[in-house]
Amino acid sequence: MSAPIDKVVVITGASSGIGEATAECLAAAGARVMLVARRADRMEALARRIEGAGGVAAFCVADVSDSAAMRRVADATVAAFRRIDVLVNNAGVMSISPLSDLKVEDWDSMIDINVKGPLYAMAAVLPVMLRQKSGHIINVASTLGHRVNGGATIYAATKAALLAISEGFRQEIGPDIRSTVISPGAVTSELHDGIADPALRERIAAAYEKALPAMAVANAILYAIAQPADVGINEIVIRPTSQNY
Ligand SMILES: NC(=O)c1ccc[n+]([C@@H]2O[C@H](COP(=O)([O-])OP(=O)(O)OC[C@H]3O[C@@H](n4cnc5c(N)ncnc54)[C@H](OP(=O)(O)O)[C@@H]3O)[C@@H](O)[C@H]2O)c1
Repeated sequence: MSAPIDKVVVITGASSGIGEATAECLAAAGARVMLVARRADRMEALARRIEGAGGVAAFCVADVSDSAAMRRVADATVAAFRRIDVLVNNAGVMSISPLSDLKVEDWDSMIDINVKGPLYAMAAVLPVMLRQKSGHIINVASTLGHRVNGGATIYAATKAALLAISEGFRQEIGPDIRSTVISPGAVTSELHDGIADPALRERIAAAYEKALPAMAVANAILYAIAQPADVGINEIVIRPTSQNY
């Protein structure tokens, strides 16, 4: 059995899907987890489940697109656990539609939540990590950040932005703070529930017939965190073997 992960981990988007699985996986491995999302009831139930299994969890209701709220998350985490070792920037939305539909509000919310959200969270935790002289930022991007699929253009752009931010951060921040960007392919979650366009819904449903369970991504995140401090797992691409893009 491997050594317990003695770390404090902030996980955004922890109320469902990949974030929820990551919280369960890391807590089972010994991490103390701070859950962040907008749905309090889901996080409360998850925190209870984690504690029922012998783990340690707290939660903070926050919208990642609100920079002041993210600073409050960092303060609450330090108040509860005294440090922040890892930030998993996982919260995201995929309100996709053809560009010609001009759903500008959806473009705004994807940019606010998928790009500004991770930046606000990084800005909130970085002073703590710099003081500690240690830390790890993990950004959840997508295979669509590597290769655009028409119909999901703005979503893909937000994920490509995360790839750039993660690599630039790695180069700038130096050896004490690690940077990982993980790009999942099709994973079972609630991500597509809000897609209104019927043709896109149908395309997504076909692509997700053999989707991975969220726990597969959680295990990859655990792997990156569990490496010795001088080992940077900088990029991970994880997709079903049947996915060809
Ligand atoms: N599923 C896939 O196939 C796939 C593939 C590649 C990448 N990803 C990425 O994986 C990440 C997790 O998605 P998922 O698949 O697990 O989908 P999901 O089940 O829909 O989870 C999304 C999470 O983000 C949270 N969230 C959304 N907007 C938020 C906001 N403004 N503030 C705080 N939290 C917010 C949601 O919680 P609340 O609604 O409670 O706030 C939820 O916990 C996303 O970044 C997504 O782009 C997913």
